[in-house]
Amino acid sequence: MLQELPLGDVYQLLEPGPVALLTTAAQDRLNIMTLSWHMMMEFEPPRVACIVSANNHSFAALTDTLECVIALPARHLAEKVVQIGNTSGRDTDKFAAAGLTPQAAWQVGAPLIAECFANLECRVTDTRLVTDYNLFILEVVEAWTDPRQPNPKTLHHHGYGRFAVDGEEISFASKMR
Ligand SMILES: Cc1cc2nc3c(=O)[nH]c(=O)nc-3n(C[C@H](O)[C@H](O)[C@H](O)COP(=O)(O)O)c2cc1C
Repeated sequence: MLQELPLGDVYQLLEPGPVALLTTAAQDRLNIMTLSWHMMMEFEPPRVACIVSANNHSFAALTDTLECVIALPARHLAEKVVQIGNTSGRDTDKFAAAGLTPQAAWQVGAPLIAECFANLECRVTDTRLVTDYNLFILEVVEAWTDPRQPNPKTLHHHGYGRFAVDGEEISFASKMR
């Protein structure tokens, strides 16, 4: 028999993952937040939508600078990802607290995270939906991957601190490039 699901639990079913880290740099302060509400919108140039809550310290930094980095952590960083998502840059230096290494990006002021298997330098290109939905449209202007992490196992949020770790891969012929 089907059971009614509380509406507050719906997000757990639709979380797309992978869980990402979003870095910002405002007034010379580097910060990181955990981000799982993001969505691809275009192949090239890559466009991404993401929700950054107005309650987060990162919201002010992103609004001020219109730049960020989306960094992708693999399984070995899971504990740090949770720690970063449960503390605020308002009162914590999260790079130091999590023991992560900021690295200068090429095109944006926000830092790359050296321990992540991929880093996407992003510029905010559209803020029309920020006031109503905290939704930022980003364009990826530079992208980096770490060849020392060839098969990263990504994290996928199932809500309330539960995650799935990327598993078996299956491939099919694709007509897309
Ligand atoms: C797994 C996970 C996913 C999260 N995804 C988001 C998200 O997509 N958008 C958001 O605004 N906050 C998200 N958060 C919450 C922020 O990471 C959290 O509020 C953080 O403390 C904000 O840091 P800041 O105040 O330094 O910006 C997530 C937290 C966790 C643990």
